[in-house]
Amino acid sequence: MKALVLAGGSGTRLRPITHTSAKQLVPVANKPVLFYGLEAIAAAGIREVGMIVGDTHEEIEGAVGDGSAFGLEVTYLRQDAPLGLAHAVLIAREYLGDDDFVMYLGDNFIVGGIEPLVRRFHDERPAAQIMLTRVADPRQFGVAELDTSGQVVGLEEKPAAPKSDFALVGVYMFTPAVHEGVAALKPSWRGELEITDAIQWLIDEGHRVSSTIISGYWKDTGNVTDMLEVNRLLLEDLDQRLDGAVDDASEIIGRVVVEDGADIARSRIVGPVIIGRGAVVRDSYVGPFTSVAEDCQVVDSEIEYSILLRRASIHGVRRIEASLIGRDVEVTPAPNTPRAHRLVLGDHSKVQISS
Ligand code: G1P
Repeated sequence: MKALVLAGGSGTRLRPITHTSAKQLVPVANKPVLFYGLEAIAAAGIREVGMIVGDTHEEIEGAVGDGSAFGLEVTYLRQDAPLGLAHAVLIAREYLGDDDFVMYLGDNFIVGGIEPLVRRFHDERPAAQIMLTRVADPRQFGVAELDTSGQVVGLEEKPAAPKSDFALVGVYMFTPAVHEGVAALKPSWRGELEITDAIQWLIDEGHRVSSTIISGYWKDTGNVTDMLEVNRLLLEDLDQRLDGAVDDASEIIGRVVVEDGADIARSRIVGPVIIGRGAVVRDSYVGPFTSVAEDCQVVDSEIEYSILLRRASIHGVRRIEASLIGRDVEVTPAPNTPRAHRLVLGDHSKVQISS
C-alpha cells in the first residue's frame, strides 16, 4: 500500500498565517500539522509516499526532505494548479501503479492516527473506504448521505442544502478501481475534479464503498478557535520535560515541556505548555494550553491558551488569551501619551482590542 499526501493549495482560510507559510506547515504544539499525518502513515506500516505539491513546494520539500526522518520514502509530484483532489490522483496515476493507496490531505488532523482504519481496509478491501465525522456546518465539506443501515448512498461536495451533518474527513482509502472513476470525471461547479464525484461514480457502478464514523477530527476551517482546540488536545498528552534552563525564581507547574536551549527566568508556567528551543520567557506568566515556538520572546507579559509561532515576541503585555500570533510578530504596549493603539497589521489580520 502507498500513500498519496496532498500538500498543495493556498490556505486562504487560515490567512494571514498562510500568506507566508504553507497551510500544511502551520504548527500545532510546535510541530507542523503535516508531520502528524506523516507519522500516522508510517505508524500504519506504509513506506512509500507520493507528495503532491504546488506553489509552496520549496517550503514543503525543505521541511519533509526525502522522508527518511519519518521512516518514509517520499516522491514529490508537482501539481501546477489546484484543480481538485481527484486531479491529484490523476497526476499520481503512474506513481500509484496498481497499488492500493491511502489519500491523506496534509491539512487534516486525526486524533489516534489511521492504523486501525488501514487494517480494516486490508481485511475488507472495499473499492473505497471513507471516514465521516459530524460537523456543525457541513456546507464547508463533502457531505455523505447514509441509508437507514448506515450505508453511504450519495456524496455531495460543499452542498448549499446538506442532506446530513456527516462530513467527509480528508483521509480516503482506495483500490485501483478508483482510477477508472477519476478518468471519467468532469470538472465540478467550482472547476475542480472532485474526489467525492469519483467515489459517487464507484457507488453508481456497484462497487463497495464503506465508511467509518470518527470523532477527534480537525481541519483548517479558518477560525483560529479550531486551531487552538487541536493545540489543546495535543498538549493534553504532554509529559513534563525540562531540558532548557529554568532559574530558581521560576515556578513550573504540571505538564510543561521546556526544550533544550530555551531560557526561563523569574516566571510562572502552568501546564500543559510547550516552550520551544531558543525561546526566552522572562518575568512572565504562561498559562495552560499555550505553545511557544522556537526563538520566541515572552518578557514582562502574561499569555494563556494561545499559539506563538517562530520568533514572535511579546514585551510588556497583559494579558493575551485565545490568540494565534504569527512568525516574527512583535506585540508591545503603546507609550502612555497619547493613549492610542498603533497597529501595523498585515492583510487579513484580525485583532480584538479590549480597552
Ligand atoms: C476537501 C474535500 C471535501 C472534504 C475536505 C476535508 O475539501 O473536497 O470533500 O470534506 O477536503 O478536509 P477542500 O479542502 O478541498 O475544500
